[in-house]
Amino acid sequence: MLGFQTSIRNKVNYAYYIGIIMVVGISILNYLNLMTINKKAEFSFIVSDLFDTTLEMRRFEKNYFLYGLKEDYSENLQFTEKAEDIIKSNKKAIEKLTIKADVYALETNIREYKSLMQKHFEHDKRHALMETHILEKRIREKGKKIVTSTEAISVAERKYMQTLIERSQRILIFSGIFLIIVGFFIAQYLSRMVIRPLKQLEDNMQKIANGEFSFIPVLSRDKELMSLSKAFNAMLVELELRQSHLVQSEKLASIGTLLFGVAHEINNPLSNISTSCQILKEEIEEADIEYKRELLSQIEAETDRAKDIVRTVLEFSRAGKKEIINLKNTVNESIRLIRGEVPSKVNIRVDVPNDIRLFADKQKLQQVFLNLIKNSMEAIEDEGKIFISAKKGKGNIVEIEVRDTGIGMEPEIVSKIFEPFFTKKETKKGYGLGLFVVHNIVEEHGGTIDVESQVGYGTTFLIRLPLRERKGEQ
Ligand SMILES: Nc1ncnc2c1ncn2[C@@H]1O[C@H](COP(=O)(O)OP(=O)(O)OP(=O)(O)O)[C@@H](O)[C@H]1O
Ligand SMILES: [Mg+2]
Repeated sequence: MLGFQTSIRNKVNYAYYIGIIMVVGISILNYLNLMTINKKAEFSFIVSDLFDTTLEMRRFEKNYFLYGLKEDYSENLQFTEKAEDIIKSNKKAIEKLTIKADVYALETNIREYKSLMQKHFEHDKRHALMETHILEKRIREKGKKIVTSTEAISVAERKYMQTLIERSQRILIFSGIFLIIVGFFIAQYLSRMVIRPLKQLEDNMQKIANGEFSFIPVLSRDKELMSLSKAFNAMLVELELRQSHLVQSEKLASIGTLLFGVAHEINNPLSNISTSCQILKEEIEEADIEYKRELLSQIEAETDRAKDIVRTVLEFSRAGKKEIINLKNTVNESIRLIRGEVPSKVNIRVDVPNDIRLFADKQKLQQVFLNLIKNSMEAIEDEGKIFISAKKGKGNIVEIEVRDTGIGMEPEIVSKIFEPFFTKKETKKGYGLGLFVVHNIVEEHGGTIDVESQVGYGTTFLIRLPLRERKGEQ
């Protein structure tokens, strides 16, 4: 199928690149902003230096007027020239802070101030008092104007710095919020495009783990998930195939053992029948009618025995029909079937929850309970109890227990009880097929059976069956 095929790898890569681009972009923006602040901070030193210089200039001006010393005049001149220099070399930046005309006025004021000071110094030498006084007044006014201007520049610079810092704070906050929002959307995108299909896959696999043996639908268009789903489905097909082969070969093996036993077991009644027939043939003319009746009864009993064995084998090999059944009902129906045979001194108790459902062959499961109850009854010599209970165990499994207070078994017997035709009962009472059949039915249902027994105390059979439900049913 042609068409656009996405992949988890690409999606994660895209999300990663978008994230990186965002972070790098925002970092560059913030770096540039910090660089501007840094530059402005340098300029702010120059501005405050200009202001300080003009203050110093005025301080020496004041001293000069007070004491008339030449040193104060030269200091004043030095600071005036420094102020001129600062303005000259930073004209453009200062112009940005204040209007052009102001800078021009400041420059002119400083120039005039300098020449007035010079004039004053020269007048002073000639002691022209009146003129000096007027000059002094004009110098003071100019000096004041200069300081006011440099102070205004310094205030403007501080304000500008403050706006710059506030702006960078805003940029930082907005970029943080922007990153969080972008991060949130990337996470949403990843969750929608990557995690959701993975979760769907996990849910479907969980259903399979719970016993719903169904193929997982290929819902995602992602390359990895599609191939994973396909591989998983292929594995399911393979598994089902192998499982059926396994069941088939196990069944064939047990049928083989059974047939060998059947041939052996049927051979006995047949040879007994044959012997009885021979005797009857030879003694047909004799008048001993009682003896003949006994021989015929033997033939009948042996025929019944052979018939029973054949019936059990036929029952064993019958193909079953599985359906959803209620365990409690199945147990109760099995007890109803056997009720007539239960001695009054044997007490049967059932404790099975009503909500346990199994996907099983009801008749075969009844066979299991019938055989186990029959064995327990036969193991109770006088008085006793049979207790059938069930509970849901770990891992979607039901644990069924059939316990009796019978005679119990020796360990060497326990190891043989599931073999076909193993019996400790007299020939007429048992064929040794009951537990063999039970074992096979339990295995056919994907379960296990275990036994615990103590001579003189009783026996407990523990059956574990999967709570496997038919596809699509809950
Ligand atoms: N609950 C039990 N208590 C004591 N012994 C038991 C119990 N269940 C089975 N056994 C022993 O295991 C043997 C095998 O049992 P199984 O049901 O396979 O055959 P059986 O009962 O002898 O004959 P069949 O069931 O074919 O009529 C029994 O003969 C008996 O000795
Ligand atoms: Mg039995």
